[in-house]
Amino acid sequence: MNKGSMIIKNTSEVVTCSGFAAKKGKEMSDLGIIEKGAVVVEEGIIKAVGPQEEILKEYDEARYEVIDAKGKALLPGFVDSHTHYIWGGYRAEEFSWRLRGDDYMDIMNRGGGILSSVRQTKAATKEELYREGMKRLDSMLSFGVTTVEGKSGYGLDFDTEIKQLEVMHDTDRDHPIEVVKTYLGAHAVPKEYKGREDEMIEEIIEEVLPVVVKRKLAEFCDVFCEANVFNIEQSRRLLTKAKEMGLKIKLHADEIVPLGGAELAAELGATSADHLLQASKEGIDQMAKKDVVATILPGTAFSLKEEYARAREMIDRGSAVALATDLNPGSCFSESIPLVFSLATLYMNLSPEEAINAFTINGAAAVDRADTIGSIDVGKQGDMILLEFESYKYIPYHIGVSTVEKVIKGGRLVF
Ligand code: NIG
Ligand code: FE
Repeated sequence: MNKGSMIIKNTSEVVTCSGFAAKKGKEMSDLGIIEKGAVVVEEGIIKAVGPQEEILKEYDEARYEVIDAKGKALLPGFVDSHTHYIWGGYRAEEFSWRLRGDDYMDIMNRGGGILSSVRQTKAATKEELYREGMKRLDSMLSFGVTTVEGKSGYGLDFDTEIKQLEVMHDTDRDHPIEVVKTYLGAHAVPKEYKGREDEMIEEIIEEVLPVVVKRKLAEFCDVFCEANVFNIEQSRRLLTKAKEMGLKIKLHADEIVPLGGAELAAELGATSADHLLQASKEGIDQMAKKDVVATILPGTAFSLKEEYARAREMIDRGSAVALATDLNPGSCFSESIPLVFSLATLYMNLSPEEAINAFTINGAAAVDRADTIGSIDVGKQGDMILLEFESYKYIPYHIGVSTVEKVIKGGRLVF
């Protein structure tokens, strides 16, 4: 972790997104804006935030690195809480098949899709995966991401899953972006396990999970709970065991078929359930009641030409919604934060304020870090972005283009 000390002054506004837990329902409209605010970071941690006159009276600029914001907006760094940023090879050909009308799940059931990335990831060396992973993190940093969640799941077998998690660890060590690691060994069913999904789940529980836990290779366990992948029973079995072993849990839930993944997330007390395009009203309400973050991935719906998840309805019914990119080589080859902002506001009817909270404090809650990141609050990590405009409103407005001018991680300028 960086441990810089600095004062950021002359902002047009500090968009604090203040809070130490996910914002739900109406709270998502509140950005906690301080006009002409300043922020002090000491040893990587936010020491003070408030109106500039007050801050500069109390803190001596001469003792700090000073960033002159020149009348621009300061926000918390974005938390991209759902990505698969380590994989080998690409699937450009498959994208053309989808453009001509082939179905995403059909391609996977023919041995392509995720299974194609699994073959290419097995064939890749650690060095190759590391190099590509670092490049992808560089790109995310340029979009203002200061923390990213990354999943394994392109190995499926023991060795390749561990290889992916190790590469995530190395990129976390070497890159300014902080990585939250998720084990997703139940991401697809390899040919040799078709019809033996129960056995595959048992092998994961017996052979892989104990090593992941013992070596602290991941903080979360995730599963692709979907028709023709892992059903509700198998997902429940895996996640219950993962929880018993000390991992926190997440689900790819109700993406293509309404299976009851949202209900399962609530039942098991998952940290988040993600996708949710087909989630039932009951499932959504149960998640809200149990404080499960609903992570919405509009880039994937866009890329697969699916209906968008009903995020407007979720917020109106009191849910905590997070937005993330789902960067991966198949269903959404995009780490573009600005694209997700524009899709969420233009097509899912989120307000700019809701979208900002969804990508900051609620993204932090989706990786169980709302106590340390996701807002500009005293005591949190000094992770912030400075825009090239005076208002956060330019983020969704400048479609598909990044408005981020500077990125600060732990009180150090990193972009
Ligand atoms: O979140 N839905 C399953 N997993 C990924 C897709 C991975 C891929 O296509 O390679 C997702 O969309
Ligand atoms: Fe995903």
